Amino acid sequence: MTYSPREFYDDLAADYHRIFRDWDASMSHQAAVLDGLLTRALGPGPHRILDCACGIGTQAIGLARTGHRVVGTDLSPRAATRAAAEAGARGAALPTVAADMRQLPFQPGAFDAVVCADNALPHLLTGHDVATALSGMRRVLRDAGLLLLSVRDYDEDRRTRPAATPPQVSYGSDGRTVTFQLWHWHDDGERYDMEHFQLLPDAGEWEVRVRRTTYWALTRAELTDAVARAGFSSLTWHEPSVSGFYQPLLTARAG
Ligand SMILES: C[S@@+](CC[C@H](N)C(=O)[O-])C[C@H]1O[C@@H](n2cnc3c(N)ncnc32)[C@H](O)[C@@H]1O
Repeated sequence: MTYSPREFYDDLAADYHRIFRDWDASMSHQAAVLDGLLTRALGPGPHRILDCACGIGTQAIGLARTGHRVVGTDLSPRAATRAAAEAGARGAALPTVAADMRQLPFQPGAFDAVVCADNALPHLLTGHDVATALSGMRRVLRDAGLLLLSVRDYDEDRRTRPAATPPQVSYGSDGRTVTFQLWHWHDDGERYDMEHFQLLPDAGEWEVRVRRTTYWALTRAELTDAVARAGFSSLTWHEPSVSGFYQPLLTARAG
């Protein structure tokens, strides 16, 4: 059995910021790292950027505030709608539309850079779907445009098959929210169903929200191979210890 990411993220959209200790601080920090990689590769810009899994806008809003011309797409209509509203509330322009990254509704060469961040690609569960998405990202990039892809570091997880993630605590005006995940590995040892728990403050008690989705724990070698096959070159992994990003980041050039 697998779970639909669209239902998961539509349901989570209003609570998504609670995953972060401080969402605005995370937005600023992530944008600074991504902008550094972008401008090193493409020059100062501003650049035309597509964030093809923008969610509620964690990367897209920060990049728009940096001065780039950013468009956001996401499978979840609720997340995409919230991203545009959150950008507007912070004085940034971020047009968004609901779209599957396997069917990007843009002309060939429309963007200088495509961002696909925070483990969005591993929601695709077959080699065919991953290849379709990456080919689409290549198609909408101009030649020598830049792909920025961030994923969870699954190499170790594929060996150890963890059952859970540690709890994270975030603070809001209504109190503390606790978030953690339970992982249920499939027999293939590569895919897992994730139960996402959020404990929200509720008048001195906890309200428990549980949502479920499925991931394919792609190794770096598998991703590197898939990105190269989709028509990218100059593939470079940027380790968190060097980039300052919280996940490994892969950059690659179109063509
Ligand atoms: C972990 S969230 C990250 C969102 C955003 N990048 C962030 O960091 O806040 C993964 C996102 O991937 C999106 N997603 C999953 N499958 C997708 C698909 N086939 N096409 C487009 N977006 C997809 C989900 O809707 C979700 O918003």
